[in-house]
Amino acid sequence: MDHYFSRQPAAPSRPRQIQTRLRGKVWTFLTDRGVFAHAGIDPGTRLLVESMRIEPSDHVLDLGCGYGPIGLVAAYLAGEGHVALVDVNERAVNLAAQNARRLGLHNVEVLQGDGTQPVADWSFDVVVTNPPIRAGKATLRRLIREVHTVLRPGGRFYFVARTAQGARTLAKDVEAVFGPAREVAQADGYRAYEAIRKEDPAGVRASRV
Ligand SMILES: C[S@@+](CC[C@H](N)C(=O)[O-])C[C@H]1O[C@@H](n2cnc3c(N)ncnc32)[C@H](O)[C@@H]1O
Repeated sequence: MDHYFSRQPAAPSRPRQIQTRLRGKVWTFLTDRGVFAHAGIDPGTRLLVESMRIEPSDHVLDLGCGYGPIGLVAAYLAGEGHVALVDVNERAVNLAAQNARRLGLHNVEVLQGDGTQPVADWSFDVVVTNPPIRAGKATLRRLIREVHTVLRPGGRFYFVARTAQGARTLAKDVEAVFGPAREVAQADGYRAYEAIRKEDPAGVRASRV
């Protein structure tokens, strides 16, 4: 069965461009069939992009980047930082890389792979995701644990989901790993959250010795 998260989508390629305004700027993205929200930006993605806090020097991971809207806006906001965009879907990865080039964003790396595997030994200030809800609970829980591992202590995790597709359950699953998740925005039936990876008390003590 062909899902938007297949490694190689079965749907024949039919590239197109979409235009949207995000963080006060008009963006043109190349999209294609077989990639999530190819006909227009997803409302959950929009809510997340408008509510995520990205500092100029942040190192950011966009997990499940699709054609790149979250990670590429993050790259624009983190002009002195760096953004890794990862997706399992090869067509999505190719589109995100093309979009980065077309937008002149050079502080990005686009990588194909499962979860955080391509960046497993990197450390991020921020991880952002509109997660693959349809991949199922077991995959989502694994991805949450992987996000926690690649975030530095004190780093921020932003995620979004549709209220009717279990946003609050997802937030609880995140809280089981991170501690409290704060709702940062709610609109059009979607909720966006922020969770912070706890500082490592042992590490803080060690650095003071
Ligand atoms: C809800 S879509 C979001 C896409 C894009 N970030 C956006 O907002 O338009 C989730 C994305 O996660 C990707 N995905 C699914 N399972 C994955 C996995 N195990 N590892 C990496 N990416 C995955 C899918 O291919 C899809 O592009």
